[in-house]
Amino acid sequence: MHIHWYPGHIAKAERQLKEKLSLVDVVIEVRDARIPLSSSYTDIKKLLGEKPRLLLLNKADLVDKEELKSWVTYLKETTGCPVIVTDAKGAKDLALVTKHAVELAEPKIQALMAKGLLRRAARAMVVGMPNVGKSSVINKLTKSSKTKIGAKAGVTRQQQWVRINPKLELLDTPGIIPTKQENQNQAVKLAFVSSVSENAYSPEPVAAALLEMLSNSKYRKEVQYYYKVEELSLENIANCRNWILKADSPDTERTAKYILKDFREGRLGKFILDEIEE
Ligand code: G4P
Repeated sequence: MHIHWYPGHIAKAERQLKEKLSLVDVVIEVRDARIPLSSSYTDIKKLLGEKPRLLLLNKADLVDKEELKSWVTYLKETTGCPVIVTDAKGAKDLALVTKHAVELAEPKIQALMAKGLLRRAARAMVVGMPNVGKSSVINKLTKSSKTKIGAKAGVTRQQQWVRINPKLELLDTPGIIPTKQENQNQAVKLAFVSSVSENAYSPEPVAAALLEMLSNSKYRKEVQYYYKVEELSLENIANCRNWILKADSPDTERTAKYILKDFREGRLGKFILDEIEE
């Protein structure tokens, strides 16, 4: 099985990301709570330099709340960043995110004031891998304030700033972290959560890898129960559902697509697929 990345796009995406990053005081990094490590970018520290970062573990509604608590502690310790659990689909607002972003940017604003400049609102942007919920987070943050305040110097015209409150302005388009990792183990997990374009892989090996990962995890029983099979394989699940092709062979392609959909929509259970590194 192989997930194909598109190296040609990566340099451009990185350039665009860097351009946007140079405009902000604080970065809100969104990760998928189902893969808190695999949905992160290994070089993010290099990319951000000294810029403060707030970490969101989004899609928290799709994982076990108790299990996620250990991840919050772990990520706070290992990244040194504040970590907030979010459900950008269901949440009423993300006031806590606004509060933390303002606090993180305050030293920079103070430094500017120490140089004799007037106080200004902090500037933030949302970054993350594809499909982690960046746009949903932006929508929730800007919901109560649709005050577009126009483009600023150096920013292309499509990019707008939205005033969230007097202390915070947000770039209304997210920075997409290119998924360039060579690591296939990470790539396949990104495919599980739709962070990789469907053109980059075929569903059967990816669904088979998901079943294998779940078979070797503490979630095995839950998944066996859901599919009503002892051994979790595409063939067994296809046979059990009676998804059989003309030549009496199991329709593994249809089964694979369903398994990925079941997982993505949280029907199999509330799973976290990364492991906390000791
Ligand atoms: P992106 O900008 O990072 O690419 O992600 P986007 O906000 O477009 O969200 C990608 C998908 O994830 C959307 O689903 C969105 O609704 C869903 N999503 C975002 N945040 C959460 C969350 O906290 N929990 C859950 N369960 N889902 C979330 P979609 O299928 O593309 O669209 P739709 O379901 O909104 O119709």
